[in-house]
Amino acid sequence: MNKNTLTQKQTKQETMFGTYEFPSYEEIMEAYAKEFANYILPKGDTIFGFWMQTLADLEFLDLELQGLTDKYTIDPVNRVVKFKGDEEFIRLRVAHLEKVKGKTTLYTDLVDKFGDTNAYAFHNLYPYKGKFYPRVVRTLINTFRLNHNSLLLDPFNGSGTATHEASLMGIKSVGIDVTPMGIVLSALKNDLLFIEEKKLNFTANELQNILETIENKKWRHAEPTIHKLMLAIYFDTVDAFVRTSRYNRKGKVGLFIEKLSYIKNCYKKTMEIKEKYGLKFEPARIIEGDILELKNMTELAEKFDACITSPPYYFSIDYVGKDKIAYDYLGADMKKIESKYLGMKNNGQIKGNYSGMPLRVAMYYEDLKESIKNIFWSLKPGGKLAIIIGDSTVNGKKIPTTLMTKKFCEEVGFKFEKLIFNPLLGARNRAIRGESVIICHKPDGV
Ligand SMILES: C[S@@+](CC[C@H](N)C(=O)[O-])C[C@H]1O[C@@H](n2cnc3c(N)ncnc32)[C@H](O)[C@@H]1O
Repeated sequence: MNKNTLTQKQTKQETMFGTYEFPSYEEIMEAYAKEFANYILPKGDTIFGFWMQTLADLEFLDLELQGLTDKYTIDPVNRVVKFKGDEEFIRLRVAHLEKVKGKTTLYTDLVDKFGDTNAYAFHNLYPYKGKFYPRVVRTLINTFRLNHNSLLLDPFNGSGTATHEASLMGIKSVGIDVTPMGIVLSALKNDLLFIEEKKLNFTANELQNILETIENKKWRHAEPTIHKLMLAIYFDTVDAFVRTSRYNRKGKVGLFIEKLSYIKNCYKKTMEIKEKYGLKFEPARIIEGDILELKNMTELAEKFDACITSPPYYFSIDYVGKDKIAYDYLGADMKKIESKYLGMKNNGQIKGNYSGMPLRVAMYYEDLKESIKNIFWSLKPGGKLAIIIGDSTVNGKKIPTTLMTKKFCEEVGFKFEKLIFNPLLGARNRAIRGESVIICHKPDGV
């Protein structure tokens, strides 16, 4: 590298070896681009994000550009896009581009600020099994052309990724889940976007007292958001100590304080982005309920413009058991919660033909089909559906849940549009190799 190209804007940085002058990141990239001509930087002003790695990412980009632009071409070799459309709007919305017409996108800002492509805003508030990638939700919201007049549904809302992402994008949504812990988390992610910053300020002493009060089961706080937030941080702290001895030196109080400080930091960064782009967040409505009883909420008939959801993967994930610490603390009956789970309630009367499938799998499929029927009922004519689903392995045998889901969608009246397979790279759970996004719509005039 030519040293002379790195002389301007050098920054003094402290390192473990002392204080040195270092070139800025931009300077290094500029120098690399000169040296390696076509290889390092994409050639163009509308360029792929570095996080675009897989063929699925390319398909997702293609999908969202259909929703965001009037016309576009993608050049995957040079990692650039050309388009016609509202560049300001695209810059605020797009999830796979780093720059649009030379200017950084809002999503790039989120990734840079939070140092992660998914754990931005409050998405990383608490570990929840089987969480969505927020980027996929953002992509689908773009694909479906949702705007501030639209209403989105996630009837398996879990920890509230879909509702949180919709709120960040200024889109109204309703999230339903049967799991109390999921309800607490999705409500929290939602409420934290609208709380005053000062309400999150506590001294170390106050936090130590709060921790003790929680441990003595006497914790109450007039502000429901703070009440729930402290409990969630407490459960997360206890869980960390159960799983590893890594935090022993820090101690419970230390970790508790650190976790609140992480949330405060997320708040600050999220509000900076809000301010910078003049965003208007939309609150979500969070409902504790069972998708199989959706039709009891008559006001939800033909109410939604789109549904983005992910049903529980057939017994691959123990959603309730994961939160045992929380349920033990709250005195909740885990068996009762589990009994409301998809595939657990059916009394063994199987209507469909699932030849050769174990009864439990058939029961799950019956409920899955019923859920899809209820989603169909809740969508407006022309409404869009994206189901994210994976195939599980039962007794060493893969069960074709993706195929069955597509079949159920068509049987209840949806028009199938597209399937994208998204590999889960490095997934620990080998039973789930990847997941598929099934996209359909409810035909007009039904
Ligand atoms: C794959 S997870 C969804 C995770 C979610 N997308 C997120 O990002 O956190 C499936 C969810 O379905 C919920 N669930 C299972 N049976 C249900 C039912 N009958 N009605 C509503 N939700 C149910 C589970 O509690 C679980 O949270």
